[in-house]
Amino acid sequence: MPAGLPPNAVRTAYEREIEEIIHGVYQKYSDVNEGSVATYIPELGKANPRHFGICLATVDGQVFHAGDWDEEFTIQSMCKPFAFQMALEQCGAEETLKHVGVEPSGDAFNSIELDPKTTRPFNPMINAGAIAVASLIKQLPVEAGVQAFVDKMSQAAGRRLRIDYDVLQSETLTGHRNRAIAYLMRNFGIIDDHVNESLHQYFAQCSMLVTCRDMAIMAATLANMGKNPLTGEQVFDFQYIKYILTVMFTCGLYDYAGGWAYEVGLPAKSGVGGGIFGVVNRQLGVSVYSPKLDAQGNSVRGILVCKELASQLGLHAFEFTNVGSNFLQWLL
Ligand code: DON
Repeated sequence: MPAGLPPNAVRTAYEREIEEIIHGVYQKYSDVNEGSVATYIPELGKANPRHFGICLATVDGQVFHAGDWDEEFTIQSMCKPFAFQMALEQCGAEETLKHVGVEPSGDAFNSIELDPKTTRPFNPMINAGAIAVASLIKQLPVEAGVQAFVDKMSQAAGRRLRIDYDVLQSETLTGHRNRAIAYLMRNFGIIDDHVNESLHQYFAQCSMLVTCRDMAIMAATLANMGKNPLTGEQVFDFQYIKYILTVMFTCGLYDYAGGWAYEVGLPAKSGVGGGIFGVVNRQLGVSVYSPKLDAQGNSVRGILVCKELASQLGLHAFEFTNVGSNFLQWLL
């Protein structure tokens, strides 16, 4: 690219092809109307069910998007891998894994269960594990821990992010199931006495506003060994990224995790706000926003788009047309 031009000012033929694919996939699924917007957190019920955005960001700083890519929505469970990364960075792997496991549960995101052998939550992607992780990264006073999370996520997105306090209040008033999970973990010594503070950290993380573009850039930051490809800032300690991508791959889609790994083959995470993002290691991040969810709490159009993009762009981790697999040509 000529010096001085902003990213995206000049597109190569290959990049124009990606742009066309993104717009084609957007058109293909714009009329899908299945699913329903989450209402168990009342404030989420206000989402516009027609919103639909797609964004793909590469590790060399190219950004491609279609539709409502700049519409804000709450990150919800897509905060979980990033909070896990922060716990690993702050407490180290050994200490963190005393509080949360890395085994798929095969159960719903909000299941009230702990591993019977260890009493830990099964993994950091289900609510129990995410609350245990929130307990590790919370601070006293709680606002300091929430701010530290928002600051880190802002670095990953490359712009200043903020909490939606209406959603936070709505989650806090209705989060009885999460409260039950937290007290169960307090009983087993998995989290400390500051149960309400741990819950506040978790609810606030879920209530952070992002756009589809933010999520694609955050995903590309993970793909790029922790360095934001647009700002050049080293946001995450790369030694831990392999661990969070692994739990995203095996547990990110809960009771659909196996089917997802089989069909799409990407580390990914969904949220009940309607977002979903995936990481193609060393290559790109992809994100979809569409608030209507299926029975498992995943965005209906989000799943369809990710399947289609994985197929058209050869993104599956074990796909031999995956760009990352090209080294085989040199071996053979
Ligand atoms: O704990 C909850 O219920 C929400 N704050 C987050 C759940 C969520 O996004 C599950 N993901 N699909």
